[in-house]
Amino acid sequence: MRIFLDTANIDEIRQAARLGVVSGVTTNPSLVAKEKKADMKAVIQEISSIVDGPISAEVLSLEPEAMIREARNVSSWSPNVVVKIPMSAAGLEAISVLSREGIRTNLTLCFSVNQAILGAVAGATYVSSFVGRLDDIGHDGMQLVAEIVEIFDKYKDRLKTQVIAASIRHPLHVTAAAKAGAHIATIPYSVLMQMVKHPLTDIGISRFADDWRRISKA
Ligand code: G3P
Repeated sequence: MRIFLDTANIDEIRQAARLGVVSGVTTNPSLVAKEKKADMKAVIQEISSIVDGPISAEVLSLEPEAMIREARNVSSWSPNVVVKIPMSAAGLEAISVLSREGIRTNLTLCFSVNQAILGAVAGATYVSSFVGRLDDIGHDGMQLVAEIVEIFDKYKDRLKTQVIAASIRHPLHVTAAAKAGAHIATIPYSVLMQMVKHPLTDIGISRFADDWRRISKA
C-alpha cells in the first residue's frame, strides 16, 4: 500500500516528504481554504515541486462542460497533477471525456460500491472511498473499501482504477486500509506522526542512551 498525504499545508508536506514514505498528496477545496490561500494553482504547483508523485487538485465546477474545461486547465498546472472530480452524473461524464484525453482523475466523495464501479468504468485513475465520514454516520467505512477492492480485483485485467482509502482519522484506519487491500491510504500529517510513535520505542531509546552513558563514564 502506498501512502499519500491528505493536506495542503506546505510545512507538513515538506516535513513528511523528508521521511521518504509519502508518494503523493491529495487536497480538496476545504484543505486549501484551511491554509487561507485563495490561489489554488500556486498551492498545487508548490506541492508538486516538493513531492514527485500524483498531486490531487479538485475542480469546483458542477456542470459537465465547465468541469471538463476546468479539469483541462488544472491538469496543465503540473505534469503530476491528478484532477479530483466529485461523484455525480456530471462528474462521470467529465471523467469519461478526460480519461480518453489521457488526463488522470480521482473520483472523490465516493460512499458506495456502485459509485466506485461507475467511476472505474468511466475511466477514473483513482476512486477515493471516504472512510471517516461513513463511520461518522454509523456505517462501516472500511467495509466499503474492502468491498471495492474485492470487486476491482475480479476485473483487474480490464479495470486499472486504484482504490484510495480517504477521510482517514486515526492510525487504526491506516492498518485496516492496508488489510483491506487499498492501493493507497491518504492520511493527515497528524496521523502519519502518530504512526511513527510508540511509547515503548521512546522508553527503549532513552534506556539505551542511559545505559551507554553509565558504561562510558565508568
Ligand atoms: O481525502 C478526503 C479527506 O480530505 C476528507 O477527510 O476528514 O474531511 O472526512 P475528512
